[in-house]
Amino acid sequence: MPHALIIYSGGLDTTVCIPLMRDRGADRISTVTIDVGQPADDVNMASDRARQLGTEHTVLDAKEQFAEHFCFPAIHANADYFGYPLSTAIARPLIGRLAAEHGQKIGADMFVHGCTGKGNDQFRIEHGLRMFAPEIPILAPVREENLTRTWEIEYAESKDLPIGQSKEKIWSIDENVWGRSIEGGRLEDPGYAPPEEIFEWTHSYEACPDTPLDVTISFDNGNPVAINNHAMGPLEIIQKANELAGTHGVGRIDIMEDRMIGLKVRENYECPGATLLIAVHKALESLVMTKAERAFKAHVDQQWAELAYQGLWWDPFMEDLNAFIGSVQRRVTGDVALRLYKSSMKVTRRQSDCAIYSEAAASFDDSAELDQSQMTGMVKTHGMESLIYNRIRERCEL
Ligand code: ARG
Repeated sequence: MPHALIIYSGGLDTTVCIPLMRDRGADRISTVTIDVGQPADDVNMASDRARQLGTEHTVLDAKEQFAEHFCFPAIHANADYFGYPLSTAIARPLIGRLAAEHGQKIGADMFVHGCTGKGNDQFRIEHGLRMFAPEIPILAPVREENLTRTWEIEYAESKDLPIGQSKEKIWSIDENVWGRSIEGGRLEDPGYAPPEEIFEWTHSYEACPDTPLDVTISFDNGNPVAINNHAMGPLEIIQKANELAGTHGVGRIDIMEDRMIGLKVRENYECPGATLLIAVHKALESLVMTKAERAFKAHVDQQWAELAYQGLWWDPFMEDLNAFIGSVQRRVTGDVALRLYKSSMKVTRRQSDCAIYSEAAASFDDSAELDQSQMTGMVKTHGMESLIYNRIRERCEL
């Protein structure tokens, strides 16, 4: 009595998997949709389709967990993979984990997902599944059977599947609390400028309000905890940041991205909240960290982004990187203000009790903390090796 659990989005690929698994002998089919902040309409559509097709369907609301345990660590690490704040990437391990645990709970004999063989998500989701339910095998029919979109649509029609809107879909969109990704269709041509219709979270430059908006974000141990002095939980603060930055046209990203399998892809993202929160977090870090820490953390953050891109959320190296990042975050407490105006964002003020900054020492008007006359000797010896090198040049014919 094989029991298949399909990790279900309600889209074409995963809907096709339902009759496909029946054809392949599964006599019990469950579906699970993990809600990480995709549009409510999509979650509802998935439930409707699952009901119509007679699966045992479950929706797991993971938005709070995603915000606190995945988006906040991304803020601490200033998440940036070549310009991409890793929105889709960091949701996948959580989807894998929750599906794995659900599969164990309902006694599934196999997991089924709809990832193609070209993207990154096959790696990230399967890794999450294997990490938390290594005993349950995984099937990926679209990849393993080389299914094409045209074949899927014909098959869906022959089986009378409710794929209505999926058929007309021009863009491939993935959306969660941390951002929105739009790819496919004409966007596959890097020479094609993104049309305004692909954007939903951000205003165009022209549509932005004519008056600037000043926003203050308060941080506690690296976590954003209040906007304009209104305390908010992780999910709420990210949603509010999305709204404010999006209204002022901040957070559109159009990049060439290097996928894990060595394939370039043209990606468009809308990540207004992530863009804003990471910018203010960085501004606060620049106030409370030493020069050596800043240089080292830039490297650590880059390694973190590489692992997060690959979905290696539970890797020991990730633990090590997080240990350093976490140690620094103990001091990332304070306020940063910024001004949003017509697609631009500028930090205007920052303050922290943990600042490694002395106004008295840096000031042009005050010599109490740093007696500049003491510097003469230090300046004289600056660049000793360069000076010596200059002396030997002639002798060595350099
Ligand atoms: N390329 C991105 C990533 O691998 C996002 C992919 C999102 N998928 C989509 N169908 N838009 O993280």
